[in-house]
Amino acid sequence: KTETLAATPPMGWNSWNKFGCNVSEKLIKEMADAMVNSGMADAGYQYIVIDDCWQVGRDSAGNIIPDPKRFPDGMKALADYIHSKGLKFGIYSCAGSMTCQKRPGSRGYQFQDARQYAAWGVDYLKYDWCYNEGQNAEAAYKTMSDALKATGRPIVFSICEWGSNKPWEWGKGIGNLWRTTGDIFDSFKGEINWGAKGVLQIIDLNADLWKYAGPGHWNDPDMLEVGNGGMTDEEYKTHFSMWCMLAAPLMAGNDLRSMDDETKKILTNEEVIQVDQDALGEQGFRFIDYGDQEIWVKFLDNDELAVCFLNRADTPWKLDYNWQKTGISHAKHYVSFSDKKYDLRDLWQHKAIGNTSKNLTADIPAHGVLMLRLTPEKK
Ligand code: DGJ
Repeated sequence: KTETLAATPPMGWNSWNKFGCNVSEKLIKEMADAMVNSGMADAGYQYIVIDDCWQVGRDSAGNIIPDPKRFPDGMKALADYIHSKGLKFGIYSCAGSMTCQKRPGSRGYQFQDARQYAAWGVDYLKYDWCYNEGQNAEAAYKTMSDALKATGRPIVFSICEWGSNKPWEWGKGIGNLWRTTGDIFDSFKGEINWGAKGVLQIIDLNADLWKYAGPGHWNDPDMLEVGNGGMTDEEYKTHFSMWCMLAAPLMAGNDLRSMDDETKKILTNEEVIQVDQDALGEQGFRFIDYGDQEIWVKFLDNDELAVCFLNRADTPWKLDYNWQKTGISHAKHYVSFSDKKYDLRDLWQHKAIGNTSKNLTADIPAHGVLMLRLTPEKK
């Protein structure tokens, strides 16, 4: 029996959001150390992924050359180091002739590059879409997918096409995750002119894609910005909670060597992570939309569910919610709160807060969430 690759959304760290092109062997090793020492590895984070700019050219045989100044010991040694820490190693390339930062892409070298990655011990490939020169996206990603499979090494394949060719419609079977949007940027609401999007916009762009996600094939609303400084801690909690409701890959994008306590608490909240990593593998959906206030639901294994009250507004939400008022009907699920009582657990306060027989009252801060796990009451 072969295990499903990325049976739950992949968790790890990626260099891009914080470090851009400033990557090196030293940085990556320090991040692997920090992943273990900070408790991130214990919380489930596993992949250490070097994004763009590690590569500088090709030799006369076409082999890709890592930057010899920044990676003096080469990629095999780096992979060995990461593996020795019990972690997994990820790398980046592009379906085009060049990467977005104008390093050599894999177009025309897919099988050669895949063999090289496997020989180095790569466990994860993020594959970008710059300089794609009008290729058909599905065909381009299928070629690299086939090349990776031909190596015989299990390599998680991360499709980074940004959503314009609807990768959710063809990505299953080709890749294990696919970006649904342009790049995230470290802001709650804002959008910047080159298409980068804040947290709320990315949530909206993923809301209707729930049916495409499942074990081994996930929508990817992009990497985390938690701890990078552009949002408040309340907003980072919301960002993280909603990524977990979306069954998103959880790739931290901050400096793990110097996290403050609040950042660490957010990224390692195991109760929230369990919602993301739930074995059923369903993406959450927007259940009720009151405008600036929303209720999201994610069905979990064993008849449990996660419910997240999302306050997009700039003012607090004085919640008074009557569970009895309506059941939840979604795809193959139906829940009636008048037939069945559920215990409520607050996943940020880490405590039980009653059950669904009474109204739920709470003050949800501006840009904040109340995230709950509902467990059927034992008779
Ligand atoms: C575009 C991708 O969307 C980003 O996540 C990052 O990989 C950059 N390219 C690197 O150039």
